[in-house]
Amino acid sequence: MPLLNIKPTQTATWKKLANHFNEAKNYELRELFRENKNREEELSFSLDELFVDYSKNRITKETINLLLSLAEEVELKDAIEKYFSGDKINVTENRAVLHTALRSSSDNPIFIDGKDVKPQIQSALRKMKAFSNKVISGKWKGYTGKPITDIVNIGIGGSDLGPNMVVEALRFYKNKLNTHFVSNIDGDHISEILKKISPETTLFIVVSKSFTTQETINNANTIRDWFLKSATVFDVSKHFIAVSCNINAVDNFGIDKKNIFPMWDWVGGRFSLWSTVGLSICLAIGFDNFKELLKGAEKVDNHFRNTSFDKNIPVILALISVWYNNFFGAETEMILPYSEYLEKFPAYLQQVAMESNGKNVDRDGDEVDYQTGTIVWGGTGVNSQHAFMQLLHHGTKLIPVDFIGFKESLHNLEDHHEKLTANYFAQQEALAFGKTKEDAHLDLKINNESNKISKLLPYKVFKGNQPSNSILFDKLTPFSLGMLIAIYEHKIFTQGVIWNIYSFDQFGVELGKELAQKNVYCL
Ligand code: F6P
Repeated sequence: MPLLNIKPTQTATWKKLANHFNEAKNYELRELFRENKNREEELSFSLDELFVDYSKNRITKETINLLLSLAEEVELKDAIEKYFSGDKINVTENRAVLHTALRSSSDNPIFIDGKDVKPQIQSALRKMKAFSNKVISGKWKGYTGKPITDIVNIGIGGSDLGPNMVVEALRFYKNKLNTHFVSNIDGDHISEILKKISPETTLFIVVSKSFTTQETINNANTIRDWFLKSATVFDVSKHFIAVSCNINAVDNFGIDKKNIFPMWDWVGGRFSLWSTVGLSICLAIGFDNFKELLKGAEKVDNHFRNTSFDKNIPVILALISVWYNNFFGAETEMILPYSEYLEKFPAYLQQVAMESNGKNVDRDGDEVDYQTGTIVWGGTGVNSQHAFMQLLHHGTKLIPVDFIGFKESLHNLEDHHEKLTANYFAQQEALAFGKTKEDAHLDLKINNESNKISKLLPYKVFKGNQPSNSILFDKLTPFSLGMLIAIYEHKIFTQGVIWNIYSFDQFGVELGKELAQKNVYCL
């Protein structure tokens, strides 16, 4: 069954939220904390090793209750059940949306058109395990008999960003294989990678769900030509692997059938790192770690599906985001991971969020008259503090922030980690509470700058009141990363349900592709 079609702005709660906003727009975080000493305890929750604190938002219990009633009114529960059960909720492409099935360890079958998808998933996982073990152990040999040292993932969009982000994020857990990613049609990208590898010891994984994507096929052809300068066509099967739904196209490209890892149309590209698209992850960190990633995501899947909305992390994060997007008119959201390993996380999330919810037509085919998809951007803390954070502290825009942090460091450089953590909390505090005129005045006095007060005071005041969430894990592991990614996937799903849009197609990217294929633009 498709998702219900409920226009959010026509619900009774939307009107109540609009009324409530007239008061809430004046909320000051400083005041809200002063009025309620238990605010942090009341507006936070834990899930396993994860602690989420959403107290530094311009909300009260009343706001949350109204947002929760919006979730009820748009029948979010019904939508979640359809999402997990394999209903064809991707109506415009007539597909189910089942990335959650990829990480499900339950024995319950999930049917699409009367066929249980679980056996296919298990068989693909077995194939990934056997293959990655063989390559990592050195039993898989290249055409001159040498073991594999390098992996090149050739793909773009969801066939690149997810695996690339995860391989980078879990570098601490990597084995001896070096993993590279080629995505851009810009020949400079491929050229730089070819400089670093040898055809004798490199495995190329061509990842394309459709196997028609211009950039990927072009890059794969260029790499094969480069490979054939040293090897013969008979050696291709030892070095080229494909991940795709389109077996005929892979066959035509010349990749051996036994080297094809299946993909399914019920897994969206941007949600596919859990599938065979994650083969490069599996090779980089080993199958057991890959399974841990899946387990972390499954933990959040079960939480999202079974927990009441008032204690449901993805639901609450989504509702708060809708609150800022649709009532405060916030245009963007910032993602700030306090881990250098998560450098690629904001870029990865941009595709998941913006390709999913950048939609201007609702589930009734009508143009929406309210804002949908938020713009996601960010970088790693603390580097961002020395770059664009000035605009949050002293600029004119409302930009809610998600701070993502880890209590423990991976390398035991405790002194560094303490300072990193101090910055993690200091930024949240500074954004929320700022610095009053009185405090700024006092500071100038203490610093013997009384003579400059009249001139400098306005520049030394911080208004604060910039909202943020704190998403804090014990440690960066495959399990916690799986949890983190799944939280955002379900947050984005929830927002799509509220906005009454189809979050799982991406027709918006087609026009540019068509024009690029039709025209040769000369410089
Ligand atoms: O152009 C956008 C897109 O369709 C993404 O949604 C997708 O992740 C990417 O291209 C790659 O597609 P494919 O895996 O079919 O090559």
